[in-house]
Amino acid sequence: MSTSCPYRSLTRHTTSTPLPPQLPTAPGWSSCATPTAPRERQHGEPKLDHFLGNIPAQVPVVIDGAYHEFVRALQVPDGVAIYRRYPNVAILRTFSKAHGLAGLRVGYLIAPDPLAHAVRTTSVPYAVNSLAQTAAIASLHAADELIERCDAVVRERNLLATALRGQGWALPHSEANVPWLPLGTSILDFAAACTAADATVHPVTGEGVRVTMTTSEANDAFLEIAGQFV
Ligand SMILES: Cc1ncc(COP(=O)(O)O)c(C=O)c1O
Repeated sequence: MSTSCPYRSLTRHTTSTPLPPQLPTAPGWSSCATPTAPRERQHGEPKLDHFLGNIPAQVPVVIDGAYHEFVRALQVPDGVAIYRRYPNVAILRTFSKAHGLAGLRVGYLIAPDPLAHAVRTTSVPYAVNSLAQTAAIASLHAADELIERCDAVVRERNLLATALRGQGWALPHSEANVPWLPLGTSILDFAAACTAADATVHPVTGEGVRVTMTTSEANDAFLEIAGQFV
């Protein structure tokens, strides 16, 4: 395999939060998400610019735009606009969220040539199978349905967040597809109650749960359980 790729043996120095993360010393790479995942605080453009302006230019920064389609707040920085301003920034996009194709494990990278070349050189051949590629392309061509689906998710996200706040929960603001419920020590009991009621949650031990919004019946069941744990 080629030895000319400058990014070949990079190790990851930081995770997405909190910003500003520890500045990496090259070689390395850094990442952040915009919009952030449901439980993380959203950072504005000045903070991201400060972060990017202080990172050595030879260190690639990957901006994860997994939740891009669910953003409705104007102040959330646009990853692609940032990518155009910094030569070391790349954007990762997944088809798992807005496109609903999580099971197919497909996404794409927008990157400057040297970084794109490095990724091609080191990535697993045929990592994205032809079924996943076909589905992803079909979904890109179904923009109207995508917008409709995301609008519905945003409506449900906002309704659920308002209802949870009404119950007394202190939810972080989420521009992602789901709200985050901070639970502390009662997570497992909460998750078990949700499972029994056919409401799907994704528990993160010691922290809280993400709510996977499915039907309005499941959301109602979830809200009832949330009301018992507040
Ligand atoms: C910020 C962020 N990026 C990416 C993902 C997952 O993407 P994928 O399914 O493509 O691995 C998640 C999943 O929850 C996420 O929160």
